[in-house]
Amino acid sequence: MPKLTSVYRLDDIESWEEAIAVAGLTIRRGGLVAFPTETVYGLGANALDEAAVAGIFRAKSRPPNDPLIAHIADFQQLSQIAEDAPPIAFEVAQRFWPGPLTLVLKKSKRIPANLTAGLGSVAVRMPSHEVALALIREAGVPIAAPSANLFSRPSPTSAQHVIDDLDGLVDVLLDGGETPIGVESTILSLIDDRPRVLRPGGISLEGLRAVVPDLRFAPSYLRDDAPAAPAPGGLLRHYSPNARVLLFEGADDAQVYTAMRAEIARHERVGVLASDAEAAAFADLNVIVERLGANSEEAAQRLFAALRSLDQRELDVILARAPRKAGLGLAVWDRLLRASVGCLVKV
Ligand code: TXA
Ligand code: MG
Repeated sequence: MPKLTSVYRLDDIESWEEAIAVAGLTIRRGGLVAFPTETVYGLGANALDEAAVAGIFRAKSRPPNDPLIAHIADFQQLSQIAEDAPPIAFEVAQRFWPGPLTLVLKKSKRIPANLTAGLGSVAVRMPSHEVALALIREAGVPIAAPSANLFSRPSPTSAQHVIDDLDGLVDVLLDGGETPIGVESTILSLIDDRPRVLRPGGISLEGLRAVVPDLRFAPSYLRDDAPAAPAPGGLLRHYSPNARVLLFEGADDAQVYTAMRAEIARHERVGVLASDAEAAAFADLNVIVERLGANSEEAAQRLFAALRSLDQRELDVILARAPRKAGLGLAVWDRLLRASVGCLVKV
């Protein structure tokens, strides 16, 4: 029989106490709780309970070779997750935790093998969202949580997105409104000789470089030293809407818009993801434009909701211009490239 998902709206402080108490108890009993973080909604379970962690993979239809992130609320919990963290780990954590930075470190023996997909390393972060922190504290254990979407759907940035994908598959949903950053955390691996960013996200590379000067940007789809098996999270096809996504890249505005307009003319039902400034270039055409705002922070915050919204319109194709790879623009570029499954049109 399908489960019922209990939804708690956390609009006012009075509603918090009961909701967090129920959610914390659900985690301790091995259940699943979807909760807001500052990046995207997470699908949480007790990180120290193998059966509970298995429930996450089942609910999401996530392949077992894609490891999860363990979420902690204070520095003491780090020792339950990781061992032998190098000094640089504490330096970046001091600077960026709580916040949208995930560290890959040597795994502690207490962590069940399914959480890390059998790897010797583990991903860990301390989120800054007050609901996430309250939940982890109430549960009293670290919480394993991937994004609370079905595998290969855009990540959820609102409680409605979680319901759309996982209604009845999760015990409790804490509705904390829209997530402020909108793209997932930056993943920094500290298990090799040189720190490597495996996924750009909510902390910019520029910000990280100030603390980690010898940083390498090495997302798995760009790695030249990739092992035979795909690296965790390295599937290019990851955030894939139903319609084909085409990403246009070029320095000259007029040339890029001309190429995009020529492509639009080849299809019947077209969606366009455009910044406020870009939208004018398509205003005279019969296309559905989803606006991504005025800057890279707004684009990050709106991106997944825009992809989900276009996804419901039964489009033939979705076009977007590749953003500048600076600040949060790099994370937006990465998510668009994955959504396009590598379909980059150079103009
Ligand atoms: O912002 C976020 O990070 C959100 C919120 C909920 O915290 N979580 C999130 O989780 O994006 P998920 O599962 O969608 O992405 C986690 C990524 C995966 O691509 C996984 O492959 C990578 O982290 N990962 C986990 N453990 C790893 C490890 N030991 N080595 C390398 N990559 C790892
Ligand atoms: Mg995800």
